[in-house]
Amino acid sequence: CVDMNLLAEVRKLFAPVLAGFVPDPAQVPDYLDMIKPAANADHGDYQANFAMRLAKVQGKKPPELAKAVVAALPPNDVFESVTVAGPGFINLKLKADWLAAQVRAMAADARLGVAPAESPRKYVIDYSGPNVAKPLHVGHLRSTIIGDALVRLLRFLGHEVIGDNHLGDWGTQFGILLYGYKNHRDEAAFHADPVRELARLYILVRGLFKKEDDEDDEATADDPVKEACRLETAKLHAGDPENVALWKQFMPACLEMLRPIYDRIGVKIDHALGESFYNPMLPGVVEDMLAKGIAVESHGAVVIPNAKGVIPKTEEEQQKEEPPALIRKRDGAYTYTTTDLATIKYRTETWCPNTMLYVVDTRQALHFKTIFAQARRWGYEATEFQHVMFGSILGEDRKPFQTRKGGVAELGDLIDMAVQLALKKYEESYADRKAHGHDVPELTDDVKRDIAEAVGIGAVKYADLSGNRTSDYIFSYDKMLATEGNTGTYMQYAYARCRAIFRKGQIDETRFRTTPPAIVVTHPAERALCLQLLKFEETLQSAATEYLPHYVTGYLWDLAKTFSGLFENCPVLTAETPELRDSRLLLVDLTGRVIHKALDLLGIRTVERM
Ligand code: ARG
Repeated sequence: CVDMNLLAEVRKLFAPVLAGFVPDPAQVPDYLDMIKPAANADHGDYQANFAMRLAKVQGKKPPELAKAVVAALPPNDVFESVTVAGPGFINLKLKADWLAAQVRAMAADARLGVAPAESPRKYVIDYSGPNVAKPLHVGHLRSTIIGDALVRLLRFLGHEVIGDNHLGDWGTQFGILLYGYKNHRDEAAFHADPVRELARLYILVRGLFKKEDDEDDEATADDPVKEACRLETAKLHAGDPENVALWKQFMPACLEMLRPIYDRIGVKIDHALGESFYNPMLPGVVEDMLAKGIAVESHGAVVIPNAKGVIPKTEEEQQKEEPPALIRKRDGAYTYTTTDLATIKYRTETWCPNTMLYVVDTRQALHFKTIFAQARRWGYEATEFQHVMFGSILGEDRKPFQTRKGGVAELGDLIDMAVQLALKKYEESYADRKAHGHDVPELTDDVKRDIAEAVGIGAVKYADLSGNRTSDYIFSYDKMLATEGNTGTYMQYAYARCRAIFRKGQIDETRFRTTPPAIVVTHPAERALCLQLLKFEETLQSAATEYLPHYVTGYLWDLAKTFSGLFENCPVLTAETPELRDSRLLLVDLTGRVIHKALDLLGIRTVERM
């Protein structure tokens, strides 16, 4: 299969040369890493910055060393020019002909030049993880969107990926439901529509708490309703038959509340082994930890001291590098940590992954740091653990985003709103284009609604993915649905534009994929587009290694801009010669395919016409 990685090709040319300059051949890869895409396109396509460092080690002058390396490069048909600049930068410009040949090969490849991994790894990805029976909130949406993108990306790169939705299905919200069911239920309503009745009961009981937004489950001292709920939870966890039976009765309805959202946003998670699944394993985890001397009893509780043997006492100690952990409370209750340790054991024994990823917000950083350290001490050293953390979604007031005052942001509402606004904006732009005499398609209401659904949901997902995931971001419908700029909507337009050219020219695109014509580079815009298309592979690789989907959106944004450059400078259907027309049509078709694939890897749909 074809593997189109420009950066790798460039590095390959330098590798044997550098071996002659670096004293220890083992260091060559470090120096090769210093070949990067050029920061300024005026200077070239790639830039090698290793001369400064190498010169320092060898006590030479960087520009001289750079020149010596360049002189030692073997003749090749890759570089148009290799020049040494300033303090010893090596600027690399690739040959247009070489780029053209690579693009042609990429077009003929169904995988767009992205070869599947030579040594595939096995990943378990823990994402979404909502707490059932509570309204879903945006943090879980973010985990779902980022997790889904990583699943798609790693799978496309040839890795084996097991997605697991670590549902919060055993928590204190069930105490609330149990209390509500026992004291306030409407029997007929429950039978007619349990989903709705449980949602009503949850909100009703939360409303009876003294402090409605109180998330501290333990603080029940002067709140009788909250205390009653806590007791219901405790009874459930202790195996009280009535509560366990009710929990079993509630669960299908709770899962049913989530389903429409997953369906609507097109997310399918392989497994949903929630907290309750691990409940029977928790005593075993604690016993094993005690038996192995990893955990100790302390004042009736069971604790895993940290590596330094410290047992938590103060806030300060909690914040230590590798904090200790409570795995069984004095009252016999197990903790989030115990459950996560059981989860690690189960996943390792069942799937034996190389890597376990946890797509969970940054606020849980300490928790994951702790359990990873505990798990390693417990013997799970062969597995790589990664907390793929992400920041919060803020409202335009920079406070945590909420759809309803005082409530948890409800995802259903949020998506409805995005789709509604997408429809409105779409109809406006449609009317506008029509008024300006543009050739706009006549679309039925159904088709319009489908476009709005793709655009609205695409906008939310793209906004979630397009910033560095570790930063917070401000949720703004206006910004995310903008038709210009780095938005999902703009990328969907760019795709539709590619398709429109083929429709307009009544051209069958098949031959551009099976027997692609030659690319003729006559204008800088064509060259720029070739180069950008060829960066697809390296973009996906870095996004997958760093678990950073925003590399893909950044790539798309550059691609869309470069594509506009072609559009503005080079006539396609009316190109001067048939060869040029074919060459440009190929660039257009390939751009469309790459946008389509990149959006698909982000879980975002495209539509053929907009
Ligand atoms: N349900 C958890 C929460 O809402 C997220 C679960 C994350 N996964 C895990 N293995 N702890 O905070």
